[in-house]
Amino acid sequence: MQATLFRNRITALFGIRHPILLGGMHQLGRSGVVAAVVNAGAMGFITPRSFDDLAVYRADLRRCRELTGGKPFGVNLTISRRAGFNRDAPAWIAIALEEGVRHFESAGTSPEEIVGPIHAGGGVLMHKCPSVRHALTAERLGVDAVALVGMEEGGHPGANQLPTFVNGAVAVQRLRVPVVVGGGIGSGRQIAAAMALGAEGVVMGSRFMVASEVEMHVAVKQRIVELDEHGSIAILGTLNDTWRVMANGTAREVQKLEAAGARRHEDFGDLILSTRTRERVYRDGRVDEGIVSLGPAGGFADAIEPAGTIVARLVDEARAAMDTLGQRWVAGDGDRLAA
Ligand SMILES: Cc1cc2nc3c(=O)[nH]c(=O)nc-3n(C[C@H](O)[C@H](O)[C@H](O)COP(=O)(O)O)c2cc1C
Repeated sequence: MQATLFRNRITALFGIRHPILLGGMHQLGRSGVVAAVVNAGAMGFITPRSFDDLAVYRADLRRCRELTGGKPFGVNLTISRRAGFNRDAPAWIAIALEEGVRHFESAGTSPEEIVGPIHAGGGVLMHKCPSVRHALTAERLGVDAVALVGMEEGGHPGANQLPTFVNGAVAVQRLRVPVVVGGGIGSGRQIAAAMALGAEGVVMGSRFMVASEVEMHVAVKQRIVELDEHGSIAILGTLNDTWRVMANGTAREVQKLEAAGARRHEDFGDLILSTRTRERVYRDGRVDEGIVSLGPAGGFADAIEPAGTIVARLVDEARAAMDTLGQRWVAGDGDRLAA
């Protein structure tokens, strides 16, 4: 078992050995990969909106409980401003609490309506947001931690243009609750840097898409392995709905429509629908035929391998980065220059 490298308020809050959090992943954040990261000492969040109905969601929570043998795992609550989208949110929370889940990640709009029920059920909530202003509001509402994501985040980083390390550095100065940072993090060096910044954890997504346990066609994973850090682009910024995605055929088509003046979601037809991505890309492996959330952190993915191996590699890299920094500090160029 890999030794603990960091012990802080986030590892205590989530009951984990490594402060690495696999954020919610629409369509992909299911028990297989979540259990694999949890069994490796990290935390993962099952994403209820990925399931066709509540019974299937509940069954997946039960599966995760079996796979993890009672270790804590989490649930992601993505709350949207779009009408009708959040119908099931109260049921997602109630079912999670009934099934013994106590760790939640929220994203989207304010956590105002969910923090109460979660705390009443004995749970803890980390709210993920793209600006310090929103994080301060969440802190005031009583969340237990916040995750600040930058514009590099795979998925929906929000309208905010600030990168992860600016957001994070401001957040640790202004918030009292523990701060997690995310967006663009795909290596252990970056985890060590985030900890030096004052964050107490990292939230990741893109780097884990190639994990063997993710239920997605191998052709998509192979494409991500082949991509470098330039493999993602931001679309739909003109609609105030920025989405960082794999630079593939469909994403370029969407960019062309935006450039030609499309300004409503309907203007893009089925190009941006998640059902299209699920069927054509994730199930059938036609990699260019749908929108795939992905950020530049995917550029660090160099092999299809178990999520536990990815966690172990990240921790080893973080340890090596910290050792190197320590050596440079004690007997580095500064000493030589002074001599
Ligand atoms: C395929 C994919 C799907 C995602 N879906 C969601 C989601 O449904 N809800 C959410 O809160 N975040 C979602 N995210 C964001 C991740 O939880 C996480 O915050 C993000 O991946 C971190 O940035 P990174 O991709 O640069 O590591 C998704 C990310 C990816 C890559």
